[in-house]
Amino acid sequence: MRANAWKWSWLFVLGAVAACERLGEPPSPQPARDVSQPAGWADELAMAVPTDLDPDPRVLEIEIEARVADVEILPGTTTRAWTYNGTVPGPMIRAKLGDRVIVHFKNSLPEATTMHWHGLRVPNEMDGTPGVTQPVIETGGEFRYEFTLRDAGTYWYHPHLDSSTQVGRGLYGAFIVEDPADPPAFGDDLVLLLSDMGLDENGELVPADSGGNFGDLFGREGSVLLVNGKVLPTLKVRTGKQQRWRVINSTRARYYNLRLRNHRFMRLGGDNGLAARSQDVYNLILTPGERADAVFTPADPPGTNNVLRWVPTERGYGSTYNRASEQMLAIETVADAPVAPEPIPAELRAIEPLDITAATQRTLDLTIAIASTVEMGVNGVPYWEAKPLEISLGDTEVWRIVNNTDFSHPFHLHGYFFQVLDETRVPEWKDTVNVPTKSELTIAVRFDERPGTWMYHCHILDHAEAGMMGHLVVRDPGAPYTPPPPPAHHRH
Ligand code: C2O
Ligand code: CU
Ligand code: CU
Repeated sequence: MRANAWKWSWLFVLGAVAACERLGEPPSPQPARDVSQPAGWADELAMAVPTDLDPDPRVLEIEIEARVADVEILPGTTTRAWTYNGTVPGPMIRAKLGDRVIVHFKNSLPEATTMHWHGLRVPNEMDGTPGVTQPVIETGGEFRYEFTLRDAGTYWYHPHLDSSTQVGRGLYGAFIVEDPADPPAFGDDLVLLLSDMGLDENGELVPADSGGNFGDLFGREGSVLLVNGKVLPTLKVRTGKQQRWRVINSTRARYYNLRLRNHRFMRLGGDNGLAARSQDVYNLILTPGERADAVFTPADPPGTNNVLRWVPTERGYGSTYNRASEQMLAIETVADAPVAPEPIPAELRAIEPLDITAATQRTLDLTIAIASTVEMGVNGVPYWEAKPLEISLGDTEVWRIVNNTDFSHPFHLHGYFFQVLDETRVPEWKDTVNVPTKSELTIAVRFDERPGTWMYHCHILDHAEAGMMGHLVVRDPGAPYTPPPPPAHHRH
């Protein structure tokens, strides 16, 4: 059905071309590469950009200050948010593969925090895990983060302490690593950072523990949907002129199923940049923490309005009950003549399957115990009681991740990308994957470098905080070993 809609919209373009021919106008639409996006096409989606303090083009040196600031989210109201450099989202960091990044981080929040670079393969001591890779950054404290960008792709940054609360108040930002070798046919780059905020009608944040145990169990979804910090912004497009969308789900708990009437998307990849092949899909699905990289080819006739919608997605008990779809991003197709889109290559990247013949096998069972509080864990043990998984440097492991709970869990691993062992998927490297309720999946990981203590957890941040989180120690057998300190328990 959707495929038909797609074909019909292209018949429209061809029809318009035929009509032009009859009028003696040029026989085929201009190629997309010869025209630009409509003037001011993404103005409403602009995010703050940090100042680069280093003149070297291969070094991005910036300052990020976490602080409380008043921002306007609901028009005409003021929200006292937690921000990076005063904006929600924080500044968009954009650099190229191989660049060096230095972040002078200062914490001016009333509480301690840390910064985590979700998906980036940073040195262990830059990972932002409190009490493990670094001490927490107290109010007034500073930390210098520094690393080289080893992987192109779409990433993001967020705090790793009391993260459900801190992310919920507005602490997140996009981090884009460009690959100059990407084909121009992908189109003009547009970052769509999706978030939600729990706000009352006066724009005030609802309490971080709203919903009590139920909030922990379901995961807290904010009532207001934001794209790049805005409620229902407008994007201007031209029929046939491609855009490369880099979509990031930075919410605490919300799953996104993105649909646009009359359209399909050409998915290029996600967490770690390009997948093996491009894939024609009718929706984009993102769990918390995940990214999607996709070409959007506007197919509506000139002068049309459309809207990108959030559609309820099953993520366990009651998650779609009585919920309607919601508008997220208005799409206005300008009056300019249609252009002919560029073909997207089918093969994008060589992704060799990991050799798992000698892999260590483990089972991680994601568990929920409901007593006077909701206690989540892995193999029945909450984070603060769990022993770290011990892994030898250089080993490949195969993890069966089992979910017998009533909720779906987006499983996230720090430090290493993994492959999902599932023949039906287009091969790609991932750092976050959905484990649907009452199901299991298997991933393969190679712990090839950067020994140290890393984390894994459910990226529904309320679940992580409720205990569904753990450590793993990648040990270099040739080096002296000090076990990590026991994890701190931040709640209760
Ligand atoms: Cu984005 Cu430990 O997480
Ligand atoms: Cu992470
Ligand atoms: Cu979970």
